[in-house]
Amino acid sequence: MAIILSIESSCDETAVAVIDGSGATLKARVVAQRIASQDDAHRPYGGVVPEIAARAHVDALAPMIAATLADAGLGLDAVDAIAATAGPGLIGGVMVGLVTAKAMAMAADKPLIAVNHLEGHALSPRLADPGLAYPYLLVLASGGHCQILEVRGLGDYRRLATTIDDALGEAFDKTAKVLGLGYPGGPAVERLARDGDSRAVPLPRPLLGSAEPHFSFAGLKSAVVRAHQSGLHTAADIAASFQQAAIDCVIDRTRRALDQAGPITALVVAGGVAANAALRAALAMLADRSGLPLVAPPPALCTDNAAMIGWVGVERFALGRFDPLDVAARPRWPLDDAAPPVRGGGVKA
Ligand code: KG4
Ligand code: ZN
Repeated sequence: MAIILSIESSCDETAVAVIDGSGATLKARVVAQRIASQDDAHRPYGGVVPEIAARAHVDALAPMIAATLADAGLGLDAVDAIAATAGPGLIGGVMVGLVTAKAMAMAADKPLIAVNHLEGHALSPRLADPGLAYPYLLVLASGGHCQILEVRGLGDYRRLATTIDDALGEAFDKTAKVLGLGYPGGPAVERLARDGDSRAVPLPRPLLGSAEPHFSFAGLKSAVVRAHQSGLHTAADIAASFQQAAIDCVIDRTRRALDQAGPITALVVAGGVAANAALRAALAMLADRSGLPLVAPPPALCTDNAAMIGWVGVERFALGRFDPLDVAARPRWPLDDAAPPVRGGGVKA
């Protein structure tokens, strides 16, 4: 077993966790974890302001590490390795977390594990569900990414699909902004959608039925803006219709990816948008029809947290895969370097 101290600071959550686990036997326990949300600091701007985020991480991180270790009843000497998100994300915040981890690793003479944030999301289902074996098909939907990956093993990912424009979480956040629901938007849209009619507003389902399982949400986002401006619909009907259109796209694209994937043990959904109950229900039906279990981590493990970074640390520790102290923070860091660029695509990694 290994005790991992982990840090997450790539976006607007400062998070620290202590995990006690063995990647070899897939056993782990979250001994302690803390999350400080910066929602209040960013709310006046309707989105994350990178400079404000970086400064908030600086203020929050050191006391939070001390408090999390105290919660765990452990000193730094009891920790076997220090893991931190090294990208992709807002580079100022990533640097705050990574530099802190490096300083602690150097001072306490512990190995450093630089973790890809997307890998944290991708492997988090194995922390929640110890029975989940490689390879599995992963729908990864967050504020910055929307991908379908074949997760073949630790560090072995094949990207089957990505978005050619916006991420799904971005579309939820934009819809919330248009409807005046504030920030962060995803949970607010989901709440309002419960009071609306999902068939009330005709909205497009971009790329539905296309051969490659890629995503596109820009056209849907614009259609939401137009539907709102028309004055013909209630906010609840727009929220419900948007959510349904988005889910229809995810289901269609995932079905296509299932056709293209090799043998898999499960359909898995992770990332912040995986906290959405309607999306989880739709994916559960698709998995059922495909004869696969659906594995979805509890919502608190879907949105950004440090436990998922610590879990990657546990799996890496079991294989002795550590990083040098001069490892770089990376604003972009695709999980599958070999994935071909998407035709007509934007810039999302
Ligand atoms: O993974 P995450 O916490 O941060 C990133 O790495 O991006 O994902 C945040 C995204 C935001 O866009 C947020 O609106 C969305 O996940 N989200 C949701 C829900 N909870 C969070 N979207 C839809 N329904 C939800 N319940
Ligand atoms: Zn994330």
